[in-house]
Amino acid sequence: MSETKIDTKAGTKKLFIKTYGCQMNVYDSERMAESLGGSGYTEVSSPEEADMILLNTCHIREKAAEKIYSELGRYKDLKLANPDLKIGVAGCVAQAEGEEIIRRQPMVDLVVGPQSYHKLPQLEAKAGKGVKALDTDFPEEDKFEHLKARPKAKRAPAAFLTVQEGCDKFCAFCVVPYTRGAEVSRPAERVLSEARDLVERGVREITLLGQNVNAYHGAGEGGTWGLARLIRELAKVDGLERIRFTTSHPNDMEDDLIAAHGDCDKLMPYLHLPVQSGSDRILKAMNRKHTAEEYIRLIERIRAARPDIAMSGDFIVGFPGETDQDFEDTMSLVREVGYGSAYSFKYSPRPGTPAAEKDDKMVDADVASERLHRLQELITEQQHAFQDAMVGREVSVLFERKGRLAGQMVGKSEYLHAVHVTDDVAVGEIARVRIIESGPNSLAGVVLR
Ligand code: 5AD
Ligand code: SF4
Repeated sequence: MSETKIDTKAGTKKLFIKTYGCQMNVYDSERMAESLGGSGYTEVSSPEEADMILLNTCHIREKAAEKIYSELGRYKDLKLANPDLKIGVAGCVAQAEGEEIIRRQPMVDLVVGPQSYHKLPQLEAKAGKGVKALDTDFPEEDKFEHLKARPKAKRAPAAFLTVQEGCDKFCAFCVVPYTRGAEVSRPAERVLSEARDLVERGVREITLLGQNVNAYHGAGEGGTWGLARLIRELAKVDGLERIRFTTSHPNDMEDDLIAAHGDCDKLMPYLHLPVQSGSDRILKAMNRKHTAEEYIRLIERIRAARPDIAMSGDFIVGFPGETDQDFEDTMSLVREVGYGSAYSFKYSPRPGTPAAEKDDKMVDADVASERLHRLQELITEQQHAFQDAMVGREVSVLFERKGRLAGQMVGKSEYLHAVHVTDDVAVGEIARVRIIESGPNSLAGVVLR
């Protein structure tokens, strides 16, 4: 969960956006703030000051979705004190639940799904007339084109850029194909021009976003471009120093993308490649369409191209039917791969997904919690080992902000570790740093001049 705040056109009305879920939601919140800037809104950092509150929501697990209703409950007094206050729900809960949100929380004025953000100004105007405004369509048009009227405000050195949205993979547990729709790639030239614009505004690192980003297949010069081609062209943009992408499916890691990890200097040595389980039986039930062995062989190929790459992943424990042995297979896979970082979750049945509709036996809640605990312990151990191995090494750091302590500056290494120094460096500077200490969640270093 994070709160986004960017400069919008100075306006008289105040907008508070709260963002839940993935990085794409962070990107979308920025676009929404910019588009509402045209309707006279300026972003503020507390709901108490706001004329409009917008929750950009996540539906990936039940907990994430339920949080929205408790958050809305908290705004009741604000709405009673100020009947003109508008409350909107955007994002994946809006898409999945639509009108149901207004039924459960009648004080909600506006519901907008991820594919309709370009219609926000009209929806806001409608809500302003006291009419409930709802849009959860999947339009044919490119919403990003309509969200383009962006002010040329200075940006932080690291930015997100959505290149692909939606998913056609239909993993049995996942709501994304229903909330974000079918896979759509933005045309390459639009991505390149947005990247150039970001660089002009101070950005030096871009993370390309997509629910299935390595399935990118955008229209480009001479035909369809894959992600590797897009990355290679982005690497030619002067001033753009670092490129990352997230999140990927193992079956879309094509040869040229693997090769790019070896020969494209601007592509950072960090790869988030979720596998979800180490058991072939569970992978099949999840409709992942690959085996554990295929995943491990794939990582060997990636490491052959870029030996120092930091691997990251996602895991689900307690998928229906998961036995002790299936879980042990996941633990073995984690041991074999050795992750720099990884995320793990307890399975949460999502309405409308194939896994939730089937009546396969749910894993006992206590057993699932115990498995999650063990897996997280192993992952934390690997994370620390990887971090500790950095001590004494030289890394490159893009400095993003001041630290908590006086004189401290914080940035990210190529491996996505947070690194702090007490040297004189500027925000946006990329410097060579020798790591001198490994803390619980970050590294300390000294700048090498
Ligand atoms: N239950 C638990 N975790 C889930 N994820 C996606 N759907 C579910 C679900 N129903 C996890 C996957 C995915 C990450 C974004 O969230 O691990 O990669
Ligand atoms: Fe959550 Fe997925 Fe929607 Fe992102 S795309 S907000 S992770 S449900």
